[in-house]
Amino acid sequence: MEPNKLKHLLSIEDLSNEDIINLINRANLFKNGLKLEFNKKVFVSNLFFENSTRTHRSFEIAERKLNMEVIQFDASTSSIHKGETLYDTVLTLDALGLEVLVIRHSKVAYYEELVQSKSLSCSIINGGDGEGQHPSQSLLDLMTIYNEFNHFDGLKIAIIGDIRHSRVARSNAQILKRLHSKIYLCGPEDWYSSDFDQFGEKANFDEIVHDLDVVMLLRVQHERHESNSGFTQSDYHQAYGLTNERYTKLNDTCIIMHPAPVNRDSEIASECVESEKSRIVEQMRNGVFMRMAILEAICHERGILS
Ligand code: CP
Repeated sequence: MEPNKLKHLLSIEDLSNEDIINLINRANLFKNGLKLEFNKKVFVSNLFFENSTRTHRSFEIAERKLNMEVIQFDASTSSIHKGETLYDTVLTLDALGLEVLVIRHSKVAYYEELVQSKSLSCSIINGGDGEGQHPSQSLLDLMTIYNEFNHFDGLKIAIIGDIRHSRVARSNAQILKRLHSKIYLCGPEDWYSSDFDQFGEKANFDEIVHDLDVVMLLRVQHERHESNSGFTQSDYHQAYGLTNERYTKLNDTCIIMHPAPVNRDSEIASECVESEKSRIVEQMRNGVFMRMAILEAICHERGILS
């Protein structure tokens, strides 16, 4: 199968269903040891203006596995602190010869002015934009689900927790609806947004817990809340979290997912994080291979595959 071709990866919605299945297949080839050669040195940098462990490091590992030249960028010591804008930072890195930039930024759709600029030729991979999109996370989540069930059609998937503030919830609800999964949206009313009505049905976790294929938990995004949520960790866990008791009610083939970082005993009982049904660590593993497939697709479009 031919690799995909992508100029940028900005939103999961930019990909067709065929693109997604192909990216999953390519990611699985990388997981099984596929090696890639480029016809020249490819310079790449990861610009993270919000905290990250998984996305940042798994992109860096993916880049190194592909023998790309990774140029370090530390947002805290960059010229952003002398007043340089994101656009001018990217203009500079593009002029220095960087071909691919992975960017995480708190501003929703920060990438629009970058990809519309006629002065820039580098490719942008969105590593997360505020409450907007997280396409590489969504793709690794889709890979994890597909590797388990071999399809998406009709799967019953509950997305649970801080839906309104979660770019993972937005990307996954959009794409899983398009892939014909049945989406349930569970969690506190104050953390729900009616934007999500088009993707799924609001539900009480306790009423559907026994009949799910995928439990997709979300991190509580305290940093995006305007005021204290009013929940203690224990209250939230009992009302909306995957408790040990709810775990026992899941059906035999149900899997548990969480994009992480996990707040143990808040969104999920600590014992459930590495339980038999959990695919949380597998999501992290798959992240490296899916990011290799994304980078391959970008390099294919740029004509730098051998
Ligand atoms: N899932 C995720 O985006 O994790 P990081 O914030 O650690 O990158």
